[in-house]
Amino acid sequence: MHNQVLSLVRAYGERGPVFDLGGMPVLAGRRANHLLAQSGDRYFSSREVHTHFLREIGTDNFVVALDGDRHRHMRSIMRPAFAREAIAGYLPHMAHTTRDTIERWQSGQQVEMVETFRRLIIEQTALVMTHWSVAGELACISRFFRTAVSGIFGRIAPQALQDPDYVAAKHRVFALARDMVREHRVYQTHLEPDYIDLLLAARDERGQPLDERALLAASLVPFLVGIDTVAHTCSFLLLTLLRESDLLQAVTDEVDHSFEPGMPDFAALRQLTALHHVTMETLRMYPAAPFTVRWVREEFEFEGHRLKGGRPVMIATPVTHFLPDLFPDPQRFDPQRFADPRSEHRQPGAFVPFSTGPHTCIGAGMAEVQIVVTIATLLRSVRLALVTQSGTVETHSTSGLKVPYSVRVLEVRKPLPR
Ligand code: HEM
Repeated sequence: MHNQVLSLVRAYGERGPVFDLGGMPVLAGRRANHLLAQSGDRYFSSREVHTHFLREIGTDNFVVALDGDRHRHMRSIMRPAFAREAIAGYLPHMAHTTRDTIERWQSGQQVEMVETFRRLIIEQTALVMTHWSVAGELACISRFFRTAVSGIFGRIAPQALQDPDYVAAKHRVFALARDMVREHRVYQTHLEPDYIDLLLAARDERGQPLDERALLAASLVPFLVGIDTVAHTCSFLLLTLLRESDLLQAVTDEVDHSFEPGMPDFAALRQLTALHHVTMETLRMYPAAPFTVRWVREEFEFEGHRLKGGRPVMIATPVTHFLPDLFPDPQRFDPQRFADPRSEHRQPGAFVPFSTGPHTCIGAGMAEVQIVVTIATLLRSVRLALVTQSGTVETHSTSGLKVPYSVRVLEVRKPLPR
């Protein structure tokens, strides 16, 4: 478990389902998750939480900051890009991108995995969703989003937004979005419409095409929310496997078997039960989003506490992942808890790595496939050993991944099928 979640779980144990953190009320526990799931739109809104960020991107039509009908409409525009058929089509490209990275590795080489996963995932995401390569742009994309998003907590220093490096990163990111959109307008070089094509064809809730600023911002959504989250999960997953040799062996055997007939397809990937359970357990123990922030619309009562309207509230969704009545021995990494008959994740409001309610992650299905295909391709291609790791594994929300560790390539295994 990482430090941020640990302190929220501790506070919940000591102070109950409503407590204060640095002046902001925090809701946690199963009832808080139910509240978000069932009454998210009624009690909470998102727009006010993102005021600084919206100013930076120059539009208020941005999925994470929309509420009600406008929000539902924007999700319906985006949804086809995250449908099962779309994901099945992404799969070979995700595997090839991973293979292209690993093929350069040599026996004895040392590799820092967190940055490697981030570079790999951004390239996979860019190619499958936008048919556009953003290799080499990771640093400026991260710089822009990390600074702009930090305004969510109202603590953004105005000078951070004037820092020349930040301003340059912001210009570069929007230039990238403009190039991407312009090329999609002019050429359709791919057979299936991709995420950018969907946005170009979309109509807003008044039947008008998305205005230019909303279009550019929407084109960047996968890079804001889909990179550090997936890379974070892959990083912790591999770290855990390298620490637990029996688990590593079991997952590798399963992966080897699935590659026997050639590169596994969508159906074959779904048969990787051991890897699937390890992925779920990683999402439980190392949630990439330790909390979500909302704006309280009007005063309401929750668990005997009055929550004042017109101010932000934090909902520490994954605190339930560490409650022993829901997940026995919660500090133990135990993938079997997801197997029948235990199926501990099926308890309503218990397992929420992708949040819950109206803003629940639209990319959850894609993320799970991306994690499984990346790790499977890696295990099939190389045998690795852990070289370094920090004493405590530390992370800072979705936008500030920090889990430094390196691996050594012990053996380059079979060449991957083409
Ligand atoms: C392990 C990987 C991932 C995790 C743990 C994760 C987690 C989350 C969480 C917790 C939220 C809700 C935030 C909130 O309620 O404020 C969210 C929203 C979202 N996620 Fe993910 N995510 C992951 C991967 C992805 C990927 C790969 C994509 C797309 C490429 C994606 C797209 C989105 C979008 C568009 C939203 C906003 C939905 C809305 O506001 O309606 N996510 N994600």
